[in-house]
Amino acid sequence: MNNHEFYMRLAIQNAKAMKGQTDPNPLVGSVIVNENRIVGIGVHMKAGEPHAEIHAIRMAGELTRGATIYVTLEPCSHYGRTGPCAVAIVEAGIKKVVIAALDPNPLVSGRGVDILREAGIEVITGVCEEESYQMNEVFNKFIVQHIPFVTLKTAITMDGKINSYTSDSKWITSEAAREDVHVLRNQNAAILVGVNTVLTDDPELTTRLPNGRNPIRVVLDSSLRLPLDAKVVTDGEALTWVFTTTSHDAEKRAALEKAGVKVFVTEQTGRVNPIEVLQLLGREMISSVLIEGGSEINAAFFENKLIDKVIIYMAPKLIGGRNASSFLGGTGIEKMSGAVELHNVSVQPLGKDFKFVGYPYAKAQHR
Ligand SMILES: NC(=O)c1ccc[n+]([C@@H]2O[C@H](COP(=O)([O-])OP(=O)(O)OC[C@H]3O[C@@H](n4cnc5c(N)ncnc54)[C@H](OP(=O)(O)O)[C@@H]3O)[C@@H](O)[C@H]2O)c1
Repeated sequence: MNNHEFYMRLAIQNAKAMKGQTDPNPLVGSVIVNENRIVGIGVHMKAGEPHAEIHAIRMAGELTRGATIYVTLEPCSHYGRTGPCAVAIVEAGIKKVVIAALDPNPLVSGRGVDILREAGIEVITGVCEEESYQMNEVFNKFIVQHIPFVTLKTAITMDGKINSYTSDSKWITSEAAREDVHVLRNQNAAILVGVNTVLTDDPELTTRLPNGRNPIRVVLDSSLRLPLDAKVVTDGEALTWVFTTTSHDAEKRAALEKAGVKVFVTEQTGRVNPIEVLQLLGREMISSVLIEGGSEINAAFFENKLIDKVIIYMAPKLIGGRNASSFLGGTGIEKMSGAVELHNVSVQPLGKDFKFVGYPYAKAQHR
């Protein structure tokens, strides 16, 4: 690892610590080095607060003169609350800028670099680019497509089941895996289930972590079967949004709205259209969605190629049963040649279980 990679990794590491709190902004870290000494460190902590470079510049003070700044994302070129970071870098007298990834927004990509180069600053790009790109997979998609990044999370037995033939699913995985799910919830803006999961399990769908952020609870419910006494309706722990179709019962809708549930009506007359759900969520500035299943909902998103990332918690258990569901229902593929192969797969032991992470498409579809 050379010096550039060393400092960039530090900036990436710091930026990652903010995961889940910069939404809808990206994770960004910055390090300023002057004569082999770190003189400034910054991260973007929250939308509306200063960018990473500004924090680092303020910390370094006069020591920015002649220094090198490492930044995980191209410095911005637009006038936000703190003015363009590229201009702040020029004004701080920094001599060299090392960037991991260019801005994914095609409308502004490269403009920050142009400002720096026009001011006579040496700019190096592409240092730890892949790592930086991956840490902002949510932002990268949302800024370009205006629909949320979709993660499908499921807990299965080793024979691929998400429940027993009596629909019992408590609990498939152990405590450690279930705790990890709360970290995921904390990092996502919305959590999505089918109405059957609410009818069967009456889940809270909240984040049980100290200072955890509760995602908005989204239920797909074509004819508004959601019971008025379901926890997601009554507990007041988080917002609940229900997506239904034009064939819903108007009285039930009024009752749900009176209970504080927001109801969205999609155009589809049969079942809720998952594509429209994502478009509506995007309009509400929801940049990430965690799908927590039910095999039918999972299949609806899978068949429409709407899943960006898959997280499978697998317990070393076998339960069998042809009527026990697997995590992807629907019709399924006809031949093995049509199977969707996961890419960039990682496996991590978690207590007695295993966590698999993979991507259904070779390159993120939005890249
Ligand atoms: N192990 C796990 O990770 C896990 C996670 C979640 C759930 N589960 C288990 O899964 C079971 C429930 O799963 P499920 O497959 O029966 O139901 P589900 O996926 O939770 O919900 C399916 C229902 O969603 C509604 N829906 C709305 N739009 C849809 C669309 N476009 N496509 C498909 N469905 C749509 C449908 O009801 P309408 O037609 O009335 O709208 C459908 O019946 C429970 O036993 C639960 O315990 C396990």
